[in-house]
Amino acid sequence: MKVNGIEYRTVWMKDTSVFFIEQNLLPFQFSIQEAKTFSDSCHAIRTMMVRGAGAIGAIAGFAMAQAALEAPEDNYHQFLAKARIIIESTRPTARNLFHAVEKVYAAALISRNMAVMAAQQVADRDADDSHKIGEFGNELIRDGMNIETHCNAGWLAFVDYGTALSPVYLAHQLGKRIFVYADETRPRSQGARLTAWELKQAGVPHTIIPDNAGAWLMSLGKIDMMIVGADRIAANGDTANKIGTLEKAIAAKEYGIPFYVAAPTSTFDVKCADGKHIPIEERSEEEVLYQDGITADGRLERILVCSPGSSALNPAFDVTPAKYITGIITEKGIIRPDRETINTLLS
Ligand code: MRU
Repeated sequence: MKVNGIEYRTVWMKDTSVFFIEQNLLPFQFSIQEAKTFSDSCHAIRTMMVRGAGAIGAIAGFAMAQAALEAPEDNYHQFLAKARIIIESTRPTARNLFHAVEKVYAAALISRNMAVMAAQQVADRDADDSHKIGEFGNELIRDGMNIETHCNAGWLAFVDYGTALSPVYLAHQLGKRIFVYADETRPRSQGARLTAWELKQAGVPHTIIPDNAGAWLMSLGKIDMMIVGADRIAANGDTANKIGTLEKAIAAKEYGIPFYVAAPTSTFDVKCADGKHIPIEERSEEEVLYQDGITADGRLERILVCSPGSSALNPAFDVTPAKYITGIITEKGIIRPDRETINTLLS
């Protein structure tokens, strides 16, 4: 996607380095950072400089390729195996991370070059899939629709295009008049910071809403459809996505509003029989207690926004049972969220 007229991907590899857009600085600063080693890339995932299921998958694949390039000749296989464990321990929920590492690790067992090629393929495939999701999802969007989304499943969360926002971008480019309600998405505010920034860059009319406003707006008939992304989809269609998704899905069902999940097949995990088996990341209480922002004179600052001395609980994802999901928009088409259909899709 274009930023200030220049085409970017969120993450890419050149020679032995990985380059990425530093998402913790957005929307205040646009900065490209370099991860010179596989542990630098792991650090970028852990600290959420690179975040979002597809982007995490891509950088995890690149990190595995970097590990193959760094591995000493006489200790190649042990080094790779250790690196794989380290990369896989960076973040637990996004299936795309494990999907990418599996693919690149297998290629690395053949050669270092194959590992780099496999990592590039994972990233290219993520961008392609997102593009196709846009085409399928656009079919659901009618002129004049108001669409709510949660968190950031735009191009920043993938290598390019995004999932939930990919249909929105295409519909907008095709001249459909649409309006997006972007949930703020506390505690890290990916909606208020990243989705809003992306939509502004693309000229899509939108507004940010507090996380607790969704059900009310639905009850007033202001939302025609909700589209969200996914971090992991179980074999029965239960879907893990950013915390807060579940309550939106329940409200959407109550008010008869179509609730779509947009995700590539690399997000599906048939080894998870249902949502109960999806590992849910718990993050630091600091993310709830403090907020990052910018002062009037342009300095980035972190301030306490909660009662001093209170603790906070910070589950990063929740699981929406398949019964609340109208359909899943994948790169192969829009499917019903049930075991049989998912089986056919992945076979
Ligand atoms: O914790 P994050 O920002 O990496 O969260 C992942 C997500 O981007 C969201 O859950 C998103 O809605 C899923 S689609 C990438």
